[in-house]
Amino acid sequence: METFSCVFQPDLNTALTDSFLLKGKWNELFFKNTNPIVLELGCGKGEYTIGLAEKYLECNFIGVDIKGARMWRGAKTATEKKMPNVAFLRTRIELIYAFFASNEVSEIWLTFPDPQANRKKRISKRLSSSKFLNSYKSFLVKDATIHLKTDSDILYAYTAALVEKNNLTVLVNTSDLYKSGITDDILSIRTHYEALFMAKGQNIKYLKFVLPDQEIVEPDEEFVEKEGLKIIE
Ligand SMILES: C[S@@+](CC[C@H](N)C(=O)[O-])C[C@H]1O[C@@H](n2cnc3c(N)ncnc32)[C@H](O)[C@@H]1O
Repeated sequence: METFSCVFQPDLNTALTDSFLLKGKWNELFFKNTNPIVLELGCGKGEYTIGLAEKYLECNFIGVDIKGARMWRGAKTATEKKMPNVAFLRTRIELIYAFFASNEVSEIWLTFPDPQANRKKRISKRLSSSKFLNSYKSFLVKDATIHLKTDSDILYAYTAALVEKNNLTVLVNTSDLYKSGITDDILSIRTHYEALFMAKGQNIKYLKFVLPDQEIVEPDEEFVEKEGLKIIE
């Protein structure tokens, strides 16, 4: 990972002291253009980061994940293909505010994030929770687009309820993407986890919405899995 020039692995101290050199300067110092920056959060092997970067040379893409072994795959591909519009940032997403400045990012993809459906795990760990959405606003442009692709009924229902509760503008919403009739090059990019879930016969849900500059609150219901059953309380 350390040999890839497209990979950044800032340590905790860098985050806590707010001393990351590329914060507010990703375009100036790394991409060397003024193109919009798009993040894939929980990117794993970075299929969306790579796939979108190949299609959209006029945008810059940064895959973010904590797991280096997975990220290595995407970084290796970007390096071998000499892709100028790809970077990877290895960090916990809880710290992401430390690595991007106000208005630096235009769009976010959440690709098969952990649903955190178990009651023992906190809902606030969901990457589409109000806690995370409010933290993303510190570096997103106004009315940025958020994409969620998931196999999880619970995460999908939870995020749709959050979107409704906050009156967010929905751009696309389907509970069965590949039977929805939506034909879109972008949506046909398959991630590693997506392929695994599809092989198990699970349908893929997709939600695309706008994140305005307002305080996001949790939905009224709690969407959790209990004793093997999926329930909505
Ligand atoms: C289920 S995998 C999906 C990976 C990939 N997007 C895919 O579809 O194949 C979820 C990924 O999110 C990452 N992740 C989850 N929570 C995270 C967090 N708080 N900070 C950084 N990475 C996180 C995990 O390391 C994991 O790689």
